[in-house]
Amino acid sequence: MRDLISIDQIASLKEIEAVFREADKMEKIVQSKKTAQWLKNKTVAELFYQPSTRTFASFLAAAKWLGCERVVAIHGMTEYSSAVKGESLQDTIRTIEQTTACDAIILRHPENNSSAVAAKLATVPVINAGSGNKEHPTQALLDLYTIKKRLGKVKGLKIGFLGDLLNGRTVKSLARLLAVADKNCQIDLISPRVLRLPVEEVKQLKNKGLRIRETDNLGGVIGDLDVLYVTRIQKEWFQTPAEKKLYASLKGQYDINPKILQPAKKNLMIMHPLPRIGEISEAVDADPRAAYFEQMRNGLYVRMAILKLILCQ
Ligand code: NCD
Repeated sequence: MRDLISIDQIASLKEIEAVFREADKMEKIVQSKKTAQWLKNKTVAELFYQPSTRTFASFLAAAKWLGCERVVAIHGMTEYSSAVKGESLQDTIRTIEQTTACDAIILRHPENNSSAVAAKLATVPVINAGSGNKEHPTQALLDLYTIKKRLGKVKGLKIGFLGDLLNGRTVKSLARLLAVADKNCQIDLISPRVLRLPVEEVKQLKNKGLRIRETDNLGGVIGDLDVLYVTRIQKEWFQTPAEKKLYASLKGQYDINPKILQPAKKNLMIMHPLPRIGEISEAVDADPRAAYFEQMRNGLYVRMAILKLILCQ
């Protein structure tokens, strides 16, 4: 694999497990506090056109943990780069390759096809760190890795996705990865009607063999779940005055709190790609079922694994 553009490139459980095995090794490196040397002579460029805390920080740290001394990490591309002057993504990619002599480009961008466009003309691998509202492949891998670590399996799971399934990209990528891991897992899509997963996506998941139920009532399914994957309502996708009004009416619909969790299983996993903006109450943080802080650390290991697998073939 040269680039990582879409989660659909991961086509078998064997491939998933290969990433997870590598991530396990990365955890040991981080625990040992000793920098590895795999990327010692590499240059990595990181370009972010959208806000990010976790993905940006963990990719940056991942490159450094692997010994990369030349990381060119640029946040705020839409504010400070020549994109402001109207430069195209294509020309920016050419520029970054030329100016940094990089061996890989990590890209976050609001357009769905941005990573594919970049990969087409780049002469070095492109890694998608979140594009548009459909793809976030490294997040899906770290999410499934967290599930595997906690529950010891990726098969036979009952997973509920809650929140903005229309605009969120993490749910779409993870659902497709789950179909690769186990066609028999059961997915509950829990959202207000207006934020449902697009019909086309649901159809594709069903075609892959997944059992899918849709509901707007969390209480009706929570007791059944092994994993509750919560997402925020994606404010940035509500742009017109009517959409902004809709956002205001939807905000705060879900608040996962100890009371709501009462009927849930004792070993439920509560996940969230974060940032949360009120969907999970802080009172849940101390609940052993909360897995969202673990996800972040696993993100470091999984991104180290991905960088190594792509750059050290
Ligand atoms: C997610 C994203 O950017 O899609 N964040 C992340 O990478 N952890 C989720 C979100 O912003 O809601």
